[in-house]
Amino acid sequence: MGTISMDGYTSGVQLEYDRMKEVKAFDDTKTGVKGLVDSGAKELPKMFIRPCHELEEELKTPSVKLQVPVINLEGIGNKNGYEEIVKQVLDASEKWGFFQVVNHGISMEVLNNMLQGIRMFHEQDAEVKKKFYSRDSEKVVVYSSNYDLYFSRFANWRDTLSVNTTNSGHLDPKELPEICRDVVLEYSNQILNLSDVLLELISVALGVKPDYLKETECTKGWNEVFHYYPACPAPDLTLGTSKHTDPSFLTILLQDQIGGLQVLHQDQWVDVQPIPGALVVNIGDILQIMSNDKIKSVYHRVMANQVGPRVSVAFFLKGLLSSPRLYGPIKELISEDNPAIYREFTLSAFQTHFFSRPLDEPPFEYYKLQNHGDEE
Ligand code: OGA
Ligand code: NI
Repeated sequence: MGTISMDGYTSGVQLEYDRMKEVKAFDDTKTGVKGLVDSGAKELPKMFIRPCHELEEELKTPSVKLQVPVINLEGIGNKNGYEEIVKQVLDASEKWGFFQVVNHGISMEVLNNMLQGIRMFHEQDAEVKKKFYSRDSEKVVVYSSNYDLYFSRFANWRDTLSVNTTNSGHLDPKELPEICRDVVLEYSNQILNLSDVLLELISVALGVKPDYLKETECTKGWNEVFHYYPACPAPDLTLGTSKHTDPSFLTILLQDQIGGLQVLHQDQWVDVQPIPGALVVNIGDILQIMSNDKIKSVYHRVMANQVGPRVSVAFFLKGLLSSPRLYGPIKELISEDNPAIYREFTLSAFQTHFFSRPLDEPPFEYYKLQNHGDEE
């Protein structure tokens, strides 16, 4: 809430009121951060500025030159290669929660066309784009800026086109914006194929049967977000994406060569170095819970940048919200020595909780068994 000052409470209320007004006016433009930049804004509007204590803390946080593991999938077709890859996937998922894959079978052409397609969507005529602007979570295709605009402590320097099949399990191609329709379909199909490969590798790494994770039906519903991060006039004062963990099973991310994505590793922010042709893979909250904390869903964020735009595509495997299935620690992994840490939940309850908690807190505490007195 507001600052403590001579007129204390009144000043607090006034500040909050002004912020909401600024946020609402921004939302009403329906042209996002890109619209702001296009209208000639040379300064960062206040609603984007990070709280003082965060900016101070940032100066104290060391940054080190470590490298997120890069896994070459080339040898996956032979037995030795496969075993080596499984080992690397396990190690990276336990220690980092993040890794990059190269030689994953999706061509450079498809990746580049996808990146180009996002740019074309965001850079097309604003009037065409505005028709997709919405905050309706039931819709399959929406364009907006900051899905959490009305709840976050500060807004992020980013606009997003989102395709979400977690409600219906279906995507009608006609709903996609024409300007990027074909590339979105092509890319999504190929990412779904790669998802099957990755889920198999992670299943084997966890010590369960190869199709275990695929059989959870987590690929039946997905959310794909196409981010556009315009060049920012004051990158040190805001963020492209605030620190968060992904509320997914697994996330596969394509980024361009600008950089800015960072992962929190041993209390230090580490750059996820752009590598041409690579895809970034990260373990989501649900897989951490299913693995009973063996593999990790870790904090990551995107820095704002003086140069841009930066574009990225995150593909979240989330399953179907209407599924009656319960998800929780995998029974085969639980024993007397490794008792379940978490209780089970449906995906719709998971989603409801996601939107009701402080946005930068992962959900793990909430699902811990001892916090709820649930029996195993
Ligand atoms: C996300 C995310 C990173 C990026 O959308 O959850 O972490 O590089 N995106 O855009
Ligand atoms: Ni993320």
